[in-house]
Amino acid sequence: MKSPFPYEIIADSKTFYGRVEEIEKINDFIKTSNNILIHSKRRMGKSTLIQEVLRRNSNEYTCIYCDIFDITSKEDFIKLLLKGISNIEESDFKVMYKKFSEMFKRVRVEPSFDPNTSKFSLRPIVATLSFDEMIEDFFLALEEISKDKQVVFAIDEFQQISLITDIKLDALLRKYIQTLQNVSWIFLGSKRHLLTSLFEYKAPLYEMATHLELQPLALEEVYTYTKKHINISKELMSYIYEVSDSETKLLQNICHILWLEKKNEEISKEYIDEVVKQIVNSKDSSYRLIYDMLNNNQKIALKILSKYKKKIYTQDVLNEFNIKKQTLQSAIKALFEKEICDKNDDVIYIPDRTFELWLQKTFTRI
Ligand SMILES: Nc1ncnc2c1ncn2[C@@H]1O[C@H](COP(=O)(O)OP(=O)(O)O)[C@@H](O)[C@H]1O
Ligand SMILES: [Mg+2]
Repeated sequence: MKSPFPYEIIADSKTFYGRVEEIEKINDFIKTSNNILIHSKRRMGKSTLIQEVLRRNSNEYTCIYCDIFDITSKEDFIKLLLKGISNIEESDFKVMYKKFSEMFKRVRVEPSFDPNTSKFSLRPIVATLSFDEMIEDFFLALEEISKDKQVVFAIDEFQQISLITDIKLDALLRKYIQTLQNVSWIFLGSKRHLLTSLFEYKAPLYEMATHLELQPLALEEVYTYTKKHINISKELMSYIYEVSDSETKLLQNICHILWLEKKNEEISKEYIDEVVKQIVNSKDSSYRLIYDMLNNNQKIALKILSKYKKKIYTQDVLNEFNIKKQTLQSAIKALFEKEICDKNDDVIYIPDRTFELWLQKTFTRI
């Protein structure tokens, strides 16, 4: 039986829950052809949310989703966009094939069969084409498609474009975004400093999208869904919410194990602690690997962060850990660049809650 609590794969329409307000808000933006930038730390549910929004809107709009997490060149970027656009769901595959063959000037499309889904899709063939040729074809096709029906185009892990340095992709996109009237762009991303610098004052994409920070799922929404599948009290549900620091992925992981092992039984607090321990232990080797790669000062900085989130530069804290302010500052900066920690106003935190719990466990041993 399929788990009602996916935590490693994206929830489908059956296991997706909550986010009523967020969906309404996003739909309002789409309706008025506006662009949105959705950001939050990782594992909160951005990709899941947007894929659900696209599923729900697939009759009304032409919806396209691209995840550009692994791009290393501008060619990778445009290839993924071309792939996204070539895979628009159409009831009649032949019509779609003909349409794309005509629409693209230089890109060729080839039918390909996916044995996993037993579906045909189109694969763009671009080996001999330059970046400029591909981008031109892509936007021409997008313009053509958007004449029939409004397009909603979601680009996930959008901050990755700032790693491409041989061309200004943001400036290029701005130009096209401004001219395409019937397309709503949804940009999503996690690496906040990279992402916000793309949309900051004077950057090409400044004011090109309304920012929306995705908050944790509301406890009420989580409880309403969870109690349908496991026998849990409101108090214990809020305990799980607290332990997972409202990180959706960890919360789902805990609920999955409870569902698997205690579906109909009464759940105790001790058992939840046991489950959390089990999850933290299962990550031991991968976290050790990360930890081993840090230098001593960075390890001290992590020790401080796993204990304090605020006022870490006070003399008391510096004395307690026997570290100089400047040394700590540069260690934190290094952790920041490695994305092991992040900052929100004056709070410095470890965004991966399971890693934070692992660190707490590790440091209480010494
Ligand atoms: N609204 C939701 N309903 C059910 N599961 C969710 C929901 N939001 C997130 N999840 C689960 O949490 C995990 C992390 O979500 P994900 O969308 O990958 O986060 P992000 O894109 O912000 O890093 C996924 O496995 C997903 O199934
Ligand atoms: Mg994601």
